[in-house]
Amino acid sequence: MTIKENIIWGTGQLIKCCERPQYEAEILLAYHLKQDRTYLIVNDNKEVKNTNKYKKFIERRSKHEPYEYIVGEASFYDINLVVEKGVLIPRPETEILIDLVADIIAKENITRIVEIGVGSGAISVVLARKFPNLQSIATDICDIPLKVAQSNINKYKLSKRIELRKSNLIDNVSESVELVVSNPPYIAEDFLLESNVVDYEPKEALFGGRKGDELIKQIILDVKKRGIRWLACEMGYDQKEPLSAFVNELGVKSIQFYKDLAGFDRGFIIEFM
Ligand SMILES: C[S@@+](CC[C@H](N)C(=O)[O-])C[C@H]1O[C@@H](n2cnc3c(N)ncnc32)[C@H](O)[C@@H]1O
Repeated sequence: MTIKENIIWGTGQLIKCCERPQYEAEILLAYHLKQDRTYLIVNDNKEVKNTNKYKKFIERRSKHEPYEYIVGEASFYDINLVVEKGVLIPRPETEILIDLVADIIAKENITRIVEIGVGSGAISVVLARKFPNLQSIATDICDIPLKVAQSNINKYKLSKRIELRKSNLIDNVSESVELVVSNPPYIAEDFLLESNVVDYEPKEALFGGRKGDELIKQIILDVKKRGIRWLACEMGYDQKEPLSAFVNELGVKSIQFYKDLAGFDRGFIIEFM
């Protein structure tokens, strides 16, 4: 079959599962051929000799497996991260959290931070690349994220500046730090997620408790108890009200909520007293 015929076939297979079936068929064929999409357009009448792998990719995608797990890579901020099943695919909204944290690090000359729930390493790797004097400890409770984060830390030659630690939240971090950043699991247990998320991405990265904000509240308590000045955290679109009430009761110097690009409440920055 030619490139064009392969794309038509792949598009047909993906019509039911993808919003942009032709685009997805093209990027999977391009990945298989180790070429870019432009190559496909220019060479659309060229024969493709061995299409077995491409067909397997299309089959996996037609069962809703995310593209990033199929190709083993996710584009995030200004880097490409290695990902695999068992680690959350980093989301574009987390880039907003990074920019807000970067502003605080720059303004306050912060040099020591902790990330809770490192996942692929997306947040810690981007921040370390932005700030050459920054030292980070990044925790996770699961083994696969710690392994994948280590690959990404090695890929970007940051092993002297980001230390990974298996820990529940910051239980195993006794060092003094100035800021904690986290994109924790924050989805309510009974929230209905799309198949590409719930059937493939790790539950430990998604669900934050019965209501969803339980882990975030524990993070706030832990950070306050340890006398750390700053906490920057992502949250669910419906968690501003309960978290506001919780934090007001607790007493902090300030809390600022921020929205994502779709206009949903998406996180907060707390400065403790
Ligand atoms: C939403 S993912 C975020 C991953 C990554 N930071 C990102 O933004 O793409 C949350 C991560 O927190 C980890 N996690 C869940 N519960 C945890 C806990 N109690 N302590 C530390 N990490 C935890 C999960 O394994 C997962 O890797």
